[in-house]
Amino acid sequence: MSDPEDTGVPPCLSEIIRDLPEIEQQLVNILNGLQEKNGHIPEEELRSLALLTRQPESALHALVGFFDSFRTCPLGRNHLSVCYGTACYARGADLVYDRLAGEVELDADGTSTDGFITLDKVQCVGACSLAPVIRVNGKLEGPVKSHRMSARLRELKKDDVLPD
Ligand code: FES
Repeated sequence: MSDPEDTGVPPCLSEIIRDLPEIEQQLVNILNGLQEKNGHIPEEELRSLALLTRQPESALHALVGFFDSFRTCPLGRNHLSVCYGTACYARGADLVYDRLAGEVELDADGTSTDGFITLDKVQCVGACSLAPVIRVNGKLEGPVKSHRMSARLRELKKDDVLPD
């Protein structure tokens, strides 16, 4: 492995790998660390990690793509996930998602063009008795009704703090 200090490694990645032995064997742990510190995995950090571990960038992109929890783009100011596990799907998760997606203009990564919200689908979040369930900024809500989703977004908008 090259010395991170000599290769212009971004500080965040440098800090994560500083005390790790054999980083080639710890790619998922490193990606988790990057995601935790940045809220997503920045392209620059991924490129540096590829160089440091002598992996093709495409292999790291494939690894990132394999796990639903990894993102390569920043989240919006609010993060709303619709559970698409079996229980939630059977109770109308797709209607809930469609209603939400119809209320905001989302880019290809599921973030609204104004940065207000990131909307995504997740697998079972472990609260099937509340199906259908959404997760709003880390808190589970359910059972939710699709026709209430416009009002739920309005509530979030009321508390939305625009960046400076
Ligand atoms: S399927 Fe949605 S919480 Fe389990």
